[in-house]
Amino acid sequence: MGNRMNILVVSGPNLNLLGTREPDIYGTSSLDDMKKLLLAYAGDHDIDLDFFQSNLEGDIINYIHRNSEARGMVINPAAFTHTSVAIRDAISAVQMPVVEVHLSNIHAREEFRRISLIAPVCVGQISGFGINSYLLGLTALSDYVRKK
Ligand code: DQA
Repeated sequence: MGNRMNILVVSGPNLNLLGTREPDIYGTSSLDDMKKLLLAYAGDHDIDLDFFQSNLEGDIINYIHRNSEARGMVINPAAFTHTSVAIRDAISAVQMPVVEVHLSNIHAREEFRRISLIAPVCVGQISGFGINSYLLGLTALSDYVRKK
């Protein structure tokens, strides 16, 4: 359909535990709550979403390769943000617009979390708003895609 766009929503390691994992830092909402939040927005805006979570770096890379035709991706690479040249290279390889999101404000935490290897190959980064970071990422990305 003409104006419909499909967007990938990817979550990295330990985010399957969202809601019970360090709730002081990451909040009490689950990944399912995040899905519902984004689906409500997508339904009103002609967007098809494909959700994926994995604890394995290679699975995230394979997923990006398999879905390289998507119009864009919102990704919370979790700990791989700070370590993964391989996920960064996968993003560069497929050339789709990507927005990096984080539940916590990675710039207000330990020194090692301030560095993102992924952000330089993204359109932008949203950090610090809990599951709302994903929604802000999706709205920013879909707006960016439509204007291109
Ligand atoms: C995170 C921040 C990362 O530093 C951390 O390793 C995570 C979650 C966030 O969403 O705030 O697992 O990406």
